[in-house]
Amino acid sequence: ALSVDMHLLTVDLDAIETLIYAIGRCDLELAGLASSAYVAGVSSLVEDEQELGAACIDMGGGTTGISIFLRKHMIYADCVRMGGEHVTADISMGLEMPASVAERIKTFHGGLVATGMDDREMIELGGETGDWEHDRRGISRANLIGIMRPRVEEILEEVRARLDAAGFDQLPGQRIVLTGGASQVPGLDVLAARILGQQVRLGRPLRVHGLPQAVTGPAFAATVGLALFAAHPQDEWWDFEIPADRYPARSLRRAARWFRENW
Ligand SMILES: Nc1ncnc2c1ncn2[C@@H]1O[C@H](COP(=O)(O)OP(=O)(O)OP(=O)(O)O)[C@@H](O)[C@H]1O
Ligand SMILES: [Mg+2]
Repeated sequence: ALSVDMHLLTVDLDAIETLIYAIGRCDLELAGLASSAYVAGVSSLVEDEQELGAACIDMGGGTTGISIFLRKHMIYADCVRMGGEHVTADISMGLEMPASVAERIKTFHGGLVATGMDDREMIELGGETGDWEHDRRGISRANLIGIMRPRVEEILEEVRARLDAAGFDQLPGQRIVLTGGASQVPGLDVLAARILGQQVRLGRPLRVHGLPQAVTGPAFAATVGLALFAAHPQDEWWDFEIPADRYPARSLRRAARWFRENW
């Protein structure tokens, strides 16, 4: 008897179409599609983790991707619609400053776990409003942490809920690997261990040697994973035609036909 194991990932058709459209507008041809949560796990989990059970949490700008691996396959993928940009927006609102300034303060001085020293460490906020009082203000690092922490907790609690729903606690291994640009905020490992459990580690892209220094950081986990994936294409993910009549295709029937014609 013939049998097949397949993993079906559903995606919002609108989102895919927008992506395909944008790539087409750049005069590029689309070779295939991959879930960023999946490829982040491909690059940042070690073999044992992929085999025994592990989750990759890819904390990006607008979203936080979740993928769970077992026996070298991804068995679950999801995402939380929050990421580092939300942290920046909270700082921007809380301290009444443009997002660009909030982003700089976050990356230079940000943190999640305050110590006594952070009460005394003052951060100059600067500003160019012309209002002298406003432009020369500063806050303590402890205050900055107080603004950032609730959002990161919210993201991690959402991740926890998704992992619980997926039955992650039933796996033989339960390592959780945090990666993505937004995983770089100091103290994340401590906070995540409190919310997600002790088996948390920070991850960055592995497996490709000789990468330029600039792309070895966690922000490149998904990109490096995509490169690995493209280097070992699986036919069914990679060789497909996008029919020209798909714009603006919204009906399920067309999606089903596309599926039949290409798989
Ligand atoms: N040193 C740092 N400390 C804290 N946050 C950082 C740091 N460096 C980058 N970030 C944050 O990482 C986020 C971007 O991460 P990343 O590059 O992984 O996103 P992306 O993959 O482009 O976005 P998405 O996955 O949402 O499409 C931004 O919100 C940025 O503020
Ligand atoms: Mg990303």
